[in-house]
Amino acid sequence: MPIINSIADIHEEITAWRRDFHAHPELLYEVHRTAGKIAELLESFGVDEVATGIGRTGVVGVIHGRPGGRTIGLRADMDALPITEATGLEHASTNKGLMHACGHDGHSAMLLGAAKHLAQTRNFDGTVAVIFQPAEEGGAGGLAMAEDGLFERFGIEAVYGMHNLPGLPEGAFATCPGAIMASADEFEIAIVGEGGHAAWPHLAVDPVLVAGHMITALQAIVARNIDPLSSAVLSITRMEAGSAYNVIASEARLSGTVRTLDPAGRDLVEERMGAVVENIAKAFGASAKLDFRRGYPVTVNHPDHIRLAGEIASEIVGADKVDTAMTPMMGGEDFAFMLERRPGAYVFIGNGETSGLHTDTYDFNDEIIPVGVSYMVRLAEVATALTTSK
Ligand code: NI
Repeated sequence: MPIINSIADIHEEITAWRRDFHAHPELLYEVHRTAGKIAELLESFGVDEVATGIGRTGVVGVIHGRPGGRTIGLRADMDALPITEATGLEHASTNKGLMHACGHDGHSAMLLGAAKHLAQTRNFDGTVAVIFQPAEEGGAGGLAMAEDGLFERFGIEAVYGMHNLPGLPEGAFATCPGAIMASADEFEIAIVGEGGHAAWPHLAVDPVLVAGHMITALQAIVARNIDPLSSAVLSITRMEAGSAYNVIASEARLSGTVRTLDPAGRDLVEERMGAVVENIAKAFGASAKLDFRRGYPVTVNHPDHIRLAGEIASEIVGADKVDTAMTPMMGGEDFAFMLERRPGAYVFIGNGETSGLHTDTYDFNDEIIPVGVSYMVRLAEVATALTTSK
């Protein structure tokens, strides 16, 4: 079955919602207008329940099909980014400095389209919960919704997410079993030396020199401790020290991010970083402290659900446009928190040859709406009917 006809019929309506969200981007948990509009539309579709304020500003719509079957969740994100839009489009952002540069406007609009279709047709056994989460862009809104009882309250047994991907052909699908997105942690290292006159370094403890050795030594964790067949990234992205050319600073700070594709690698990097930081500082007579802040976990797809997602996607666009063995990416994804709690699948849908995610010229490709919505609808119809919870 290719694109569902009645979904193609509401392509324009969904596009209008998408462009309205695009023109009114909101940050993190402050997605009040977007969440309000989503709740209003869900009510107008006649869904059985609309719950707001879950995980602060998350919205859930519940649609019952025929009795029996399972309850599954379809998830979209709602938040935008602090970027000044440079597309010059008619529907460009009207909130200066904010922009839907990751396509969450498209994700939300597509899920609304799926909800409308599912509420009208109810051609499935069980229940579909449509989940609209705030704060995907670094605010852990998915975790906030989970901790607010999302899965227990609605009895959700499996959960599915989708993200657009520029560079992947328009309407094609890509995903993989196991890790698909990396853990995303951040760290700060505070090095304390002893300041002094730059001409008498023997009377000081130079934290800049310590920082230099630390930067080099930290790279050895990825090069020498991580299994070469596994993956990790350790990037130091900021360093701060000193204020004059003739003064040895008393403190230096380094910060950056760590990405890994498996929980054991993540633990290993954190542990080794602690040892390197402490001991390099000690070797130079300085002291240092590592503040390692865990962010999003590894996004891990469940193999059975990826198989199902691949079958559904193939049904819609043909198997030649579905890659179920893509190479994982080192970006982080908040959906990881949901997949830690319930089995499911996260897939990419091709946005075509557009500007990249998080750039000021990016725009969600409205042409992929019927494909994305058809995928969600078919996935919901099939996944609710599965008798075993995989
Ligand atoms: Ni995104």
